[in-house]
Amino acid sequence: MKMVTAVIKHYKLDEVRKALTDVGVQGMTVVEVKGFGRQKGHLEVYRGVEYEVRFLPKVKIEVAVPDEKVEEVLQVIMDSARTGEIGDGKIFVYDLEEVVRIRTGERGHQAI
Ligand SMILES: Nc1ncnc2c1ncn2[C@@H]1O[C@H](COP(=O)(O)OP(=O)(O)O)[C@@H](O)[C@H]1O
Ligand SMILES: [Mg+2]
Repeated sequence: MKMVTAVIKHYKLDEVRKALTDVGVQGMTVVEVKGFGRQKGHLEVYRGVEYEVRFLPKVKIEVAVPDEKVEEVLQVIMDSARTGEIGDGKIFVYDLEEVVRIRTGERGHQAI
C-alpha cells in the first residue's frame, strides 16, 4: 500500500475529489497547508491576487491506495489538478505499512 499525498491549488480540490471518487477512491484526508516550490512563492496568483509572500496557501490531500491503484491515482490527480500555470503542485508517494479500520478491526487492503 502507498500513501499518495498531493499538494494542490485550493480551487482544484473539488475537481480532484470528484475525479478520485469516480475511479473508486473511498476516502481521503484534506488539510489546509502553506508552502512554496521553485518560485519560492513569488508572483503566484491566488484567487486573482498576485502574491509576493514566501508561503502560499495550498490544499494537501492524502489518499491511501493499494499498490495496483497507485499509477491510476497519480494520473487522475495530474489530470484533474493541472492548470498548466506555475504552482500546480506536487505529489509525494510513501510506503504505507498498515491501515486499521477502528470500528471493525479490519486491516490492510480491507481497511482502505
Ligand atoms: N520539495 C518540496 N518539498 C515539500 N513540499 C513541496 C516541495 N516542492 C513543492 N512543495 C509543495 O507543493 C506546493 C506547490 O509547489 P509548486 O509551486 O507547484 O512546485 P514547483 O514550483 O517546485 O514546481 C508548494 O507550495 C509546497 O507546499
Ligand atoms: Mg512553483
